[in-house]
Amino acid sequence: MADQDVQQLTAHGPTPDTVILDQFPDPVILLNRRREVLFANTAAGDVLSGRFAGRDLALSFRHPAVLEIADRVIGTGRSLTVDISVPSPVQRSFLVRALALDDEAAAAMLIFEDVTGARAAEEMRADFIANVSHELRSPISSLVGFIETLRGPAADDEGARQKFLAMMAEEAQRMSRLIDDLLSLSRVETMEHVRPGDRLDIGMVLRSTAEMLTLRAEEKNMMIEVDCAANLPPVIGDHDELVQVFHNLFDNAVKYGRRGTVVNVRVTPAVPVPGSREPGLSIAVTDEGVGIAQEHLARLTERFYRADKGRSREMGGTGLGLAIVKHIVNRHRGHLAIRSEVGEGTTFTVHLPIESNPQ
Ligand SMILES: Nc1ncnc2c1ncn2[C@@H]1O[C@H](COP(=O)(O)OP(=O)(O)OP(=O)(O)O)[C@@H](O)[C@H]1O
Ligand SMILES: [Mg+2]
Repeated sequence: MADQDVQQLTAHGPTPDTVILDQFPDPVILLNRRREVLFANTAAGDVLSGRFAGRDLALSFRHPAVLEIADRVIGTGRSLTVDISVPSPVQRSFLVRALALDDEAAAAMLIFEDVTGARAAEEMRADFIANVSHELRSPISSLVGFIETLRGPAADDEGARQKFLAMMAEEAQRMSRLIDDLLSLSRVETMEHVRPGDRLDIGMVLRSTAEMLTLRAEEKNMMIEVDCAANLPPVIGDHDELVQVFHNLFDNAVKYGRRGTVVNVRVTPAVPVPGSREPGLSIAVTDEGVGIAQEHLARLTERFYRADKGRSREMGGTGLGLAIVKHIVNRHRGHLAIRSEVGEGTTFTVHLPIESNPQ
């Protein structure tokens, strides 16, 4: 947009009002009775195209809903609002208020409030509730089905009763895991802006977490091998949360790793933590397993995202593990990287800072 367009105000030039409006962060446009642009502030340059001063709004802004409310406000003298979405330069949502003005020159003022963030948050919340309901509904419908069977066809069959009760216990545990994970996620999210401050020996955290999963690994004839030098500086973090991070990563590595393979955990100094200037350590968890196709990698840490829905559910996963990992790593001002080769295996690398003085 040309500079003289921005400054092209009313016929009398800039007035104190329009000088103030120009400072406004939201796009503001003043129209006369003929729907011609009398004034557009600097922010309006983002939504208007071409030369607009003194010309019909339709020539520089083609959104039919906005043109319609502009006409109605000019015609009736009553203010209106409309929700619109503008595709370029990036998709944005605006709440447009068209205010009727009681002024000789200006008949209407359009104010564009950018509500992109709020709309995205609303959408995410709705998606999240839909996902949680869906995830809870499947174990509940299994439970209802089992109850019906136990009341009817299997009422007098002791063998079937035991089998169904065991399956019911499993479904109930799945629900309980889901609720634990949801609570964990919400706790970490609320704390995300507060950086943890303990100094921790990462080698100890990794070895004790690996030990918790030894039995599960042995069931698949697997081993978790921790390769960590003794003289590394302490990381700055929260012990329980870091245990949760590595428990999730080791659990996935065992779950999705091939029988008889080794899960390797290697700690190396990483200077600096990617995306920051702080020195840190990097902890790489590598498995030899099914791997993850490239197209899934970017979305893997989203809640309930599963690369292989059937397999993950079969293994009792909630699909929240990596979302929790991601939030905890963010809270630590660290970084999570994922590399994978289908059929070969996967490496999750966690970078954690070793100094607590934020930039
Ligand atoms: N090491 C891995 N190898 C292959 N796929 C993996 C690996 N780790 C995670 N995935 C994929 O990423 C998805 C998300 O992992 P995440 O840990 O969030 O969920 P989950 O393991 O299904 O459930 P849980 O909440 O119990 O951890 C998994 O469903 C799986 O498809
Ligand atoms: Mg998992």
